[in-house]
Parts: sequence; structure tokens; C-alpha cells
Amino acid sequence: MTIDWDNLGFDYIKTPFRYISNWKDGQWDDGKLTEDNTLHIHEGSAALHYGQQCFEGLKAYRCKDGSINLFRVDENSKRMNRSAKRLLMAEVPEDKFIQAVEEVVKANEAFIPPYGSGGTLYVRPLLVGVGEGIGVHSAPEFIFTVFCMPVGAYFKGGLTPTNFVFSDYDRAAPQGTGAIKVGGNYAASLLPGEEAKERSFSDCIYLDPATHTKIEEVGSANFFGITNDDRFITPLSPSILPSITKYSLLYLAEHKLGMEAVEEDVYIDSLEEFKEAGACGTAAVISPIGGIQTYDDFHVFYSETEVGPVTQKLYDELTGIQFGDIPAPDGWIRNIKI
Ligand code: PLP
Ligand code: COI
Repeated sequence: MTIDWDNLGFDYIKTPFRYISNWKDGQWDDGKLTEDNTLHIHEGSAALHYGQQCFEGLKAYRCKDGSINLFRVDENSKRMNRSAKRLLMAEVPEDKFIQAVEEVVKANEAFIPPYGSGGTLYVRPLLVGVGEGIGVHSAPEFIFTVFCMPVGAYFKGGLTPTNFVFSDYDRAAPQGTGAIKVGGNYAASLLPGEEAKERSFSDCIYLDPATHTKIEEVGSANFFGITNDDRFITPLSPSILPSITKYSLLYLAEHKLGMEAVEEDVYIDSLEEFKEAGACGTAAVISPIGGIQTYDDFHVFYSETEVGPVTQKLYDELTGIQFGDIPAPDGWIRNIKI
């Protein structure tokens, strides 16, 4: 298979190896790499009927010296276990999670895009409730699997801004599952996302489910804005996913760019206060938002065609660290030498 490294999208590409481990009778087995990319599961599996599943997303980056960087993989492990707790699933010990990710990345090393191509290896850990059942209760068994594929930009523009639209729909409830990474949140976002794309927007922006007056997040990334007085602001809400990229940007904005960086309410009638805005996440990286279609207006931030200077600086800092060109804050990078 030949891969056009410079023109990767965000699509499934089969790589040779994935990791799989089974939980039964209170314990995980040792787990192993396999070439089989199908799961054979019981028809009564709770994951299929009642959405008892959760997942993670992280990336492996090819550095200039050929080695490989993993970015904050321990945070993905912690978040998966918060998801598992909320859905009454078996937790995956952090060392097992990190070992599985490292094994999969090393085994599929040939599929990590070259340094400078803009591509990365997207790693998808997945935990599913399986085994016999039909009543609404937790599954008797669990499968933990990790697979990966080379990817490029998630939103087509990459660092070129794209436009978004406010949604009338909610993806999560105030005390529901918005803050954990479970499939049900994404099932709820399929129709709103599709309707936004039919109207030529990249995706929709969800508002707080209780009042629809504040920005929450994009269906697959968090929201941030740069105020006219140079503050980095990102919404504070119990129903959005605590994005690892977002927390990294809060740190970098404050410690590298010397900005005030805070999580606080972002009211939809305050868009004028922002000179730049963007979506951030593992898949999205930093995707500048050109404009937002609000309920009664189309609001343009910096430009519909060019990335703003602060967003560009944050992008350079973040990706510089991820690809190993800029020293990382303690504990952010696990470097794998092949
Ligand atoms: N919000 C949602 C709904 C997501 O799916 C993601 C992707 O993981 C994010 C935010 C960004 O989170 P992270 O930066 O941890 O990838
Ligand atoms: C990620 O950024 O890792 C995501 O999970 C977003 C999306 C692909 C669901």
C-alpha cells in the first residue's frame, strides 16, 4: 500500500497491528497484538444496546531525528478511567493503557507519517461492555482495544479558517455524560453535524443545554477565543469534554505567550469581544474559526481566509512541542526510540 503522506484526510486506514485485552471474572488478561481488525462479540452486549462504551483519541508524532513522541498519554488514560467509572465499566490500569499504546505505535511504525508532512498517527483506545445480557445493567465482560491509522487535518481547512454554525440541538445534558468520552454523545451529534455540513459549515457549535445563551463546544473539539485585550478564554461547563489540548493551550497561553488564560462563561451575545477564535482538540489540533452563523447574524472573527496571529503562535508552540522541536513542560512527552 502506498500512502500519499502529504494529502492524508481523517479516514480509516487499516494498519497491520492492534492491541486487544479481555476483562472477565474481575480481571484483565495480559493482552496481545493481533492482525484481526474485527471484534466478534455477543449479540446481547451492553455496548450495542445501551451504549456502554467509551473511547480516547491521541496521536504519535514523528520527530526530526526519526524518534516518536506521544503527547500526554497519561491524561488520556485518566480520562478513559473517568468515563469507565461513570458508565460502570472495568477501569484499565494506567500502565496497561500506556503499554498498549506504545506497543501499537511501535508495531505500526511504518505508518507514522514523516516529519514535516503534516501527518500524524492517530491512536484510538476503545473500551466496550460485552458478553451475555439483555436487561439494563453493566456488562459481565469488557474488551479494551487500541488501534491506529495515519491522519491529516480533521477539518478540511487545516490552518485556513472555516465557518461554524450555532446548533439548536443539545449533545449532552447538564448533569449527563458531556464531560466523558462516550459514544452516545457522538451519536447525538451526528444529525446536527450533518445538517451543519449540508449548509456548508465545518460543524456546529453547541450551546449550554440549560439556557442556550453560552457557547459550549464543537461536536469534536473545544472552543477558544482571544479577546480584544489579548486574553485566552475557553468555556467553563460541566457538560463539555475536558480537552487535553485545551488545558495544554491554557498553560501555553499563560506561560509561553504571557497572556491571561482562563475558563469562563462565553455568552453568545459577546462575540464582539473576541478578535480570534478556534476549535482545539487532538484531531482538530487548532482549527481557526473564520465566522460563526449565529441565530440572526454571521459573525466574522479575525478573517475568513487567514489565521490570526495569536492562534498561529499557539499552533506553533503546541505543534512544536508535539513534534519535539520545542522543549516540553515536564511530563508532556513520552519519546519512543525505534
Ligand atoms: N470535545 C470533544 C467533544 C471531543 O470529541 C474532543 C476530542 O477528543 C475534544 C473536545 C478535544 O479533546 P482532546 O484535546 O483531549 O482531544
Ligand atoms: C479526538 O480529537 O481524538 C476525537 O475524538 C475527535 C473525533 C474524531 C471524535
